[in-house]
Amino acid sequence: MGQTMTEVLLVTGATGTVGQHAVAALADRDVAVKSGVRNPKTVSTEIADAGAVVAFDFTKPETWGDALVDVDGVFLVRPPAVSEADINSFVDAAARVGVDHVAYLSTLGAEKNVLIPHHRIEKHIMGTDIQYTLLRSSFFMQNLLEVHRPDIVERNEIFVPAGRGETSFVDARDIGEAAAVVLTESGHTNRAYDLTGPEALDYGTVATICSDVLDRPITYPNPSLLAFARRMRRRGKPLGFIALMCGIYTTARLGLAARVTEDSRRLLGRPPRTMRAFIEDYAAEFQADS
Ligand SMILES: NC(=O)c1ccc[n+]([C@@H]2O[C@H](COP(=O)([O-])OP(=O)(O)OC[C@H]3O[C@@H](n4cnc5c(N)ncnc54)[C@H](OP(=O)(O)O)[C@@H]3O)[C@@H](O)[C@H]2O)c1
Repeated sequence: MGQTMTEVLLVTGATGTVGQHAVAALADRDVAVKSGVRNPKTVSTEIADAGAVVAFDFTKPETWGDALVDVDGVFLVRPPAVSEADINSFVDAAARVGVDHVAYLSTLGAEKNVLIPHHRIEKHIMGTDIQYTLLRSSFFMQNLLEVHRPDIVERNEIFVPAGRGETSFVDARDIGEAAAVVLTESGHTNRAYDLTGPEALDYGTVATICSDVLDRPITYPNPSLLAFARRMRRRGKPLGFIALMCGIYTTARLGLAARVTEDSRRLLGRPPRTMRAFIEDYAAEFQADS
């Protein structure tokens, strides 16, 4: 345990989709937040105002010492490009310096899918002396604003090869808040939570909600894996990324991403955000850049 009364919590991936909301949620609590980022000079004022900002890079172990000074708990996000080995070495370093608790952002079903890095990283964390909380999250609603945004704003379509499979989309803001809960309240150590939104929707229904809220027709053409791969390739996405996306959307196609749980509601003390609320809140970002 640290000498001070105030717990110090390190957030990795602090500028990312989930991390930024974990930082904001922790800043509202009685803890000291440390945002670990590769380039401290470029962080938003929200992150700078939330607490300390430290230079941190999973691929540069020389940055880990400063980042871990006085840290009691870590919100651990694996950036997609960082190797499993680097994440595991960082976890070992955290264990060595006496970090008490790691909350790890994982993916729904990671416990059963031995092929994915999340499965092995979860096991690695559980094999250390650190107390852990696994946040196994469903598909982020925010994916619509990231990799799929060009299709929505330029072509008014949602172009994902998910067939008619349903997905229990979760809002990254809710995951960030859930991370703050598990790291600052008692009763969440050595546990795993399946974080989903309140309902499972197919992409046709998501397109209908988008049309309704954005007040312009958005369609779901239900593309094949090949059509999706071709479009991503034309957009210059690397083959490895395209293969990963095809694998992920195949799970959705098969209905394996549809499970809805009560874990988000239990942790947040309120229902998780709906897809409609997400699109309403981010409506301006679904418009073409002027
Ligand atoms: N998308 C989904 O639907 C979904 C669902 C379930 C689970 N997940 C999991 O969520 C994780 C990604 O979370 P996210 O979407 O919030 O991340 P993200 O938006 O991709 O952000 C990644 C963050 O990592 C930082 N970063 C990149 N390289 C780094 C390095 N070498 N060292 C330290 N930091 C580095 C980046 O910050 P700087 O560039 O500022 O350093 C950025 O803040 C993945 O593990 C993914 O498998 C995603």
